[in-house]
Amino acid sequence: SETLPPIPATAPPATPAPADLDRILRDPGFCRHSTGRVAVVEWEDGTGWSEPRIEPYGTLAMDPATLGLHYGQAVFEGMKAFRGADGSVSLFRAADHGRRLALSAARLAMAEMPVELFIRACAELVAADEHWVPGGYGQSLYIRPLLLATEAEMGLRPSRRYRCVFLAYPADPCFGSDFRPLAVTAATETVRAVRGGTGESKCAGNYAASLLTRTQAQAAGYDEALWLDGLERRWVEELSTMNVFFVWHDEDGPRLTTPPCDGSIVRGITRDSLLTLAGGLGLRAAEEPTAIDAVREGLRTGALAEIFASGTAGAVVAVGRLGTGDGDLFVGDGKEGPVTARLRAALLDVQHARTPDTHGWLLPV
Ligand code: COI
Repeated sequence: SETLPPIPATAPPATPAPADLDRILRDPGFCRHSTGRVAVVEWEDGTGWSEPRIEPYGTLAMDPATLGLHYGQAVFEGMKAFRGADGSVSLFRAADHGRRLALSAARLAMAEMPVELFIRACAELVAADEHWVPGGYGQSLYIRPLLLATEAEMGLRPSRRYRCVFLAYPADPCFGSDFRPLAVTAATETVRAVRGGTGESKCAGNYAASLLTRTQAQAAGYDEALWLDGLERRWVEELSTMNVFFVWHDEDGPRLTTPPCDGSIVRGITRDSLLTLAGGLGLRAAEEPTAIDAVREGLRTGALAEIFASGTAGAVVAVGRLGTGDGDLFVGDGKEGPVTARLRAALLDVQHARTPDTHGWLLPV
């Protein structure tokens, strides 16, 4: 196989902050402005992992026969650094994102980056771009590590070279900082993933598989497609970009459920955080298979009081309207419910270090 070019010593180029950085940070949108730098880590068979290096943001020059482009060995993460109330900056659950990248890579027969190296690359990038981390509640520096097979070869086999590029952008939540409730519609014709497939890997192909239906849903006036299981076509799985939660009301009060991670959905780190935080708020929470029929029935009777979506990019967003393939149903009055609001506040309060980090989720950089 080819050999890696020599890796230059880490020396962050001093990219001056743009004159309008303050304006960008006040209204960053979702990943509209790169910080202008990336962290890069490479792997080669026989050599192993390189040390992270910080480079100017730029295009990737690639051989058109690159394995990752033809056969889809491409996995990514989405994670965030937050500014705390005291002005300090911390990565949120960096080790968990590193472990998930390794899980995604393993499923696609790609090299698994040690978690310690993953964290170091993120921390070095965020430290270099600290002044790019916005301070508003709900805002963050969004970090997008992309691991790609870079060896050029036409035969089908796992690449023997990989590059991981960590991109960074100041960001508002991806569905907006007003957390307007979403309208979603169940995908009744197409399937995103099946158990045993790549559904729980954050691989590019899963997102490609979601695009046609998601775009059609958007053309029909919804924000997102709600995916059902591939076998029976009745169990709710997740949205294209977020996991999904239900808030049921019974005589004992609200009860939170979310579909179990049994191979076809992304193991959401926000999902896991909310399941953990729910206990602290005195909310009952369980991972439980939920049929689309039960959702429909629950919305009709009122037993299902709230639905919301969770994810790194979007945080926690209510679902206000649901297309089920059999007409639209409103979730309650279509507005954000109290449990959704409380859980989002609990999450953002931890992320911005406004409440004690009892779970050890923050890593100061
Ligand atoms: C994230 O929540 O970070 C994601 O990876 C979803 C992305 C497709 C916007």
